[in-house]
Amino acid sequence: MELATTLKTQDVRIGVREIGINPDHWYAVAWAKDLKPGQVIPVTIWNQTIAVYRGISGQIHALDNICPHKGVDLHTGDVTGERLVCSYHGWEFDHQGQCAKIPYLPEEQKLPCAELRVFPVQEKYGLIWIFPGNPALAAERQPPEIPEFDNPHWIMVAIGARFNAHYSICNENTMDVFHGYLHRNLQGWFNPVLLKLKESDDSVCADYRVSYQGPITRFLGLSEDGGSITTKVISVNYHYPNYYTSLEGISSLYLMRLPVSPSESRSFAFLFLKVRLPQWLVATVRPMLQYSIRHGLFLRFLAQDIEMIESEQRNYWANPKRRYVEINPAIVALQRVLVRQYEQFRQSLEPAHTNGQTGNRHKSVDEPVSVPEAIATNHIDPS
Ligand code: FES
Ligand SMILES: [Fe+2]
Repeated sequence: MELATTLKTQDVRIGVREIGINPDHWYAVAWAKDLKPGQVIPVTIWNQTIAVYRGISGQIHALDNICPHKGVDLHTGDVTGERLVCSYHGWEFDHQGQCAKIPYLPEEQKLPCAELRVFPVQEKYGLIWIFPGNPALAAERQPPEIPEFDNPHWIMVAIGARFNAHYSICNENTMDVFHGYLHRNLQGWFNPVLLKLKESDDSVCADYRVSYQGPITRFLGLSEDGGSITTKVISVNYHYPNYYTSLEGISSLYLMRLPVSPSESRSFAFLFLKVRLPQWLVATVRPMLQYSIRHGLFLRFLAQDIEMIESEQRNYWANPKRRYVEINPAIVALQRVLVRQYEQFRQSLEPAHTNGQTGNRHKSVDEPVSVPEAIATNHIDPS
C-alpha cells in the first residue's frame, strides 16, 4: 500500500515500546567466526536463552540453554563430538536435544526422558541465524538475500552493536532519515525529503532524497568534489525483522536486529561501499579501507545514535505515559508493522488457547509485557 509522504503532526502514545516480537522469523544471533568447533556460546532472543555450539564436525546446533536435570545453564558445559555435556553432573545431550548419556548410570539402565528444545539454526553470510518460533515455518522463511556479500567489487565492513533499549526504538532510528542533524559534525546527510512510502504486512519501504557535502562525500564516491552539494536518493527497506538500505548503488547497509529482551537489543550490520578503484588496487588497500570506514566513519555515527536511542529509552521508562509528537509517516508506518507482526503472532497462538493447550508453540519467547493494553493505547493514526 502506497502511503502519503506529507509530514504532519501525529500525537503518539508509544504503546509500541511494550510489544513483544514475532518469533516466526530467522534472527541473526552471533558472528559465525566467534564459534569454533568444540565451543559453546549463550545467545538470547527475547529472553529465551539458547546454547549454540559447534560440534567437532563443524556443524552448528542450538538447544535450550537450561539443563532439564536441575535447571543450570548448559552453555558452561563442554562439547564432545556433536553432543553438549552439562557442567554440573555431566549429562550428555545429542544435537536432537535427547539425553544420550548419564555418566553415573550403569550402561544397561534406561535413560530418563529428559529432553531439550531444539532450535532450527543455520550459518549464512558469516552469521549464525536461529528461528525461535514455530519450527514448521522455518523452511519457508529464510534470512535475507545479501548479493553484495563476497562480491569483490564491494568493500564490506561488518559491525555489531548493543543498545540498552527496546528494539522498536532502535528500528525507528534506522528508518528516521530526518536525524542527519545529529551527525552534522561527521558530514552526514542534510535536507532530507520523504519521496515515497510503501507499507505491507511485514515491511516498510521509504525513499528519501538527501544531500551531502564535504570531504567524506568524496571519499565515499558520492561526489567528485567534496565542496559541492550532491543530492541522492536513499531507499530504506525494513522487512521484519531486518533492514536493507541502499544509496543509489553506491553503498548499501544490511542491518539485522536481534531483540534480546524488552530492554536490550543488538544489531549485526554489513556496510558495503562500491569502490571506484582498479581491482588489483582494491585487493591491496581493502584492509586499510575497511579499518578507516569502520573507525573513521561507522563507529562514530553509531556512537551518536546509541546515545540518542538509550536516552529515548531512559525517558520512556521514567514516564511511559508521556505522549510524543511524530511527524514522519515512515516512523508511524514502521510502528504499525511492528505492532501488526506481534499481533499476528499472538493470534497464531489462539487456537491452541481454546483447548487449554499451547500446541506445538513454546511460550518462552513470546511472553508479553502488558501487551493488550499496550496495543490499545497505541494511538497511531493509520491514515
Ligand atoms: S544440572 Fe545438568 S546434569 Fe545435572
Ligand atoms: Fe544515525
